[in-house]
Amino acid sequence: MTNKNALITGITGQDGAYLSQLLLSKGYKVHGILARRSTDTLWRLRELGIADEVILLDGDLTDLSSLIRAMEASKADEVYNLGAQSFVGSSWQQPLLTAQVDGVGALNVLEAVRIVNPKGRFYQASTSEMFGLIQAEQQDETTPFYPRSPYGVAKLMAHWATVNYRESFAMHASSGILFNHESPLRGIEFVTRKVTDAVARIKLGLQKELRLGNIDAKRDWGFAGDYVEAMWLMLQQEQGDDYVVATGQTTTVRRMCEIAFGHAGLTMDQHLVIDEKFFRPAEVDVLLGNPAKANAKLGWRPKTSLEDLIVMMLDADLRRLSRG
Ligand code: NAP
Ligand code: GDD
Repeated sequence: MTNKNALITGITGQDGAYLSQLLLSKGYKVHGILARRSTDTLWRLRELGIADEVILLDGDLTDLSSLIRAMEASKADEVYNLGAQSFVGSSWQQPLLTAQVDGVGALNVLEAVRIVNPKGRFYQASTSEMFGLIQAEQQDETTPFYPRSPYGVAKLMAHWATVNYRESFAMHASSGILFNHESPLRGIEFVTRKVTDAVARIKLGLQKELRLGNIDAKRDWGFAGDYVEAMWLMLQQEQGDDYVVATGQTTTVRRMCEIAFGHAGLTMDQHLVIDEKFFRPAEVDVLLGNPAKANAKLGWRPKTSLEDLIVMMLDADLRRLSRG
């Protein structure tokens, strides 16, 4: 067990909740930035039974002074920057906010670490979205980036800021280039959870159809619970570095839907409607990661198959909806 302090931005999000659970199990004192919202954002931490075990500090990624205060209050040894406007679809409607939160926000966290505790270790939640219009069939740490959304562009700035602070100030700063990862705690706007929630509703007679956009898109989907272990492992290495975290398998949205409908004993074609509204101005057609470096250097490998993941999510949605 450790007695280290951790600070997590985005603690109320999917990854923030699983990472908090992992760090608490290792003995960390876990602090998290709580951005002011008019709605309740603690449901994920409650669902994992850890809402009372983490220390929440008011702050916002766009407010450097709040991040400096959080660094001072938490005495953080490890800082995980998971906070973001993370929905690619919204980034075309809110490009400036996305740039401020996902791009400049990461720079604010790096500055707060540099000012308060430059020996602190820093993790940046980078993304396979940076590969966008892919320049290699399977993407790894050497593949050139070609972002296709304002979200991808903002995240690319944060990625390079992380590399630059490592090289400029000898900071222990790592960029985890994570491919899509999902769970029962996934936000409802993302396609896997949209599907499992809708299939559960159709199964229970609460809804008739599921409307989706481009179901030919392919993604490399893993389980968020597996992926937060890779984040932690990166900060336990002697030096900061960049790592791709992925399963090495890619699947169409269509096939992912078939798994969900099939598990519920429903016929997909009777319920699925293609709706132009959900197509994007520019699409990332296919993502397929190569996690060889994370495997070799961190000893990390994914443990959960896509089938098991979708079944886990669907069963959780069925339970939630049945409880009312
Ligand atoms: P998520 O569920 O959408 O969580 C995002 C978190 O960021 C929430 O806690 C949110 O707070 C917080 N946040 C938003 N704006 C903020 C602001 N201005 N100041 C402070 N906090 C703010 O995302 P996730 O799936 O856990 O992903 C975690 C990180 O990994 C994100 O940076 C995402 O871009 C990146 N990523 C995710 C994936 C994936 O497949 N899940 C893959 C690669 C990279 P509220 O709850 O108050 O809104
Ligand atoms: N959300 C959504 N809703 N996506 C749909 C729909 C729909 O109705 N229909 C088809 N899709 C397609 C999208 O066009 C995209 O090609 C794919 O499903 C996955 O969409 P999302 O689940 O929204 O995820 P994403 O790949 O755009 O972004 C997620 O993964 C990134 C890592 O690659 C997010 O978690 C990002 O934050 C993350 O960085």
